[in-house]
Amino acid sequence: MSSATAIAHANIALIKYWGNRDDALRIPANGSISMNLASLTTRTTVRFSASLYSDCLILNGRPVAGAGLERVRLILDWVRARAGVGASAEVVSENNFPTGAGIASSASAFAALALAASHAAGLSLTEIDLSRLARRGSGSACRSVPGGFVEWHPGNDDTDSYAVSIAPPEHWDLVDCIAIVHAGPKAVGSGEGHVLAWTSPIQAARVADAPRRLDLCRRALLNRDFDALAAVIELDSDLMHAVMMTSRPPLLYWQAATITVFHAVRNWRAQGLPVAYTVDAGPNVHVICPNQVHVEVSRRLRNLPGVQEVLVAPVGGPAHLEE
Ligand code: DP6
Repeated sequence: MSSATAIAHANIALIKYWGNRDDALRIPANGSISMNLASLTTRTTVRFSASLYSDCLILNGRPVAGAGLERVRLILDWVRARAGVGASAEVVSENNFPTGAGIASSASAFAALALAASHAAGLSLTEIDLSRLARRGSGSACRSVPGGFVEWHPGNDDTDSYAVSIAPPEHWDLVDCIAIVHAGPKAVGSGEGHVLAWTSPIQAARVADAPRRLDLCRRALLNRDFDALAAVIELDSDLMHAVMMTSRPPLLYWQAATITVFHAVRNWRAQGLPVAYTVDAGPNVHVICPNQVHVEVSRRLRNLPGVQEVLVAPVGGPAHLEE
């Protein structure tokens, strides 16, 4: 039987997904907007073979069993049922960036898996159907299927919850300078966090105001208006972390150095440097800026106490098959 290799980029949410209306299908409480990160990639090969005894997953050179494999099997089972394939699969996946550090490795992982598995099974899915399939593995993965700047329409059910590109990578040469302040895996994963979101008394207000923030962000991106973008993405990130901190039990992903970066970014912006921060479910700070200042921004970030490393990522394209 055949095999296929796909490459997908991680993405950084500019308007965040936090909380589901349907946890099993990952139908989100609110829409979200992200940009793909060109230099952060997952490369995944899926091989269906009648001679395999069962599905297996090798992640960054190590075999993975248990919950990690089950999550992958969800996607393989969907593909097998749709393609009429009975064989087991070997999935070999590599990230070129630290796994579990709040850099959304599950997004690029499930986008690459959806594309590689469907292609290896002989299916040729539309971008929308691939996005829907990736969403079942990890919500944010549906946004790593299309290219550039991407919006996930929350929808009501499996058929209408998927992501589309709102502008190609070349629309705006933004760069994400990721200040790594802690590279280990996080204590509470996003999956658990989404469930806890509803225990916060402010989640309902965050969700109710999401359409307004999505409009502001979409407009700022389409108009290349950095000041407007900075205002809305910092507000949205702070709102999500406010929900996290006020959930029961509370989640506090920030480290001291996370806050050091917030203060620095706000000071630099007040002095005229176009920079804005956003943080996913982890302590590392994504500092977004136009390409022409990214060398200066990364240099300044590296000099801050507690910043261990800075990863630099321009806007990335869609998930694609390896030639
Ligand atoms: C904070 O997509 O990782 O990064 O669907 O359980 O895999 P699962 O959750 P995931 O949640 C992402 C949360 C976030 C915000 C975002 O990317 O929108």
